Amino acid sequence: MSEIIPPLSKDLKRVLINEDAIAKRVSELAAEINEKYKDIEEPLILVGVLKGSFIFMADLVRHLTIPHVVDFIAISSYGRKGAERGEVRLLMDTRENLSGHHVLIVEDILDSGNTLNYLITAFKARGTKSVETAVFLDKPERHQIPVDIQFMGFEIPDVWVVGYGLDYKERHRTLPYIAEMIPEK
Ligand code: XMP
Ligand code: MG
Repeated sequence: MSEIIPPLSKDLKRVLINEDAIAKRVSELAAEINEKYKDIEEPLILVGVLKGSFIFMADLVRHLTIPHVVDFIAISSYGRKGAERGEVRLLMDTRENLSGHHVLIVEDILDSGNTLNYLITAFKARGTKSVETAVFLDKPERHQIPVDIQFMGFEIPDVWVVGYGLDYKERHRTLPYIAEMIPEK
């Protein structure tokens, strides 16, 4: 049976990670998370960073067998310049009180490391039992601050990617695969 692949949008260069590879990797990450937290007494609180993480979160949690609670936060994006200065601001906090809980931050992509560094520090200050991170994509070439990632999906080169929750000016966020953008002239 031949697979029907819809044509790639004109502003996209190539598919970097296809749907099957994503599904396989996400179920592997969930298995690692199930194993790591199998003995916890309280439910694990997963905190997704909006908007980019929402599809990764949805796929990941449907493989979890451990008790868990899903929550989200929103942070501001200052644009490239602000992000390079390490500025991060919390726009919408979690609904759950994180104090006394094991927390897993669910993020779409690790770039400079500023976002995750800020969140890990902020959540630890709330008296959490532990704070760990599940990140779907990593751009190792762009790291500025070291961040400890426990569950990592794929390493990618320093190119702008969209799909599977990630966007360019809100475009392509709901593509089922990860694609590389053609840079704007
Ligand atoms: P930092 O630099 O804080 O950045 O680690 C993480 C955030 O940067 C955004 N980002 C991207 N978003 N395609 C996107 O759609 C990309 O290739 C990309 N690279 C970085 C993203 O919001 C992430 O949470
Ligand atoms: Mg993001």
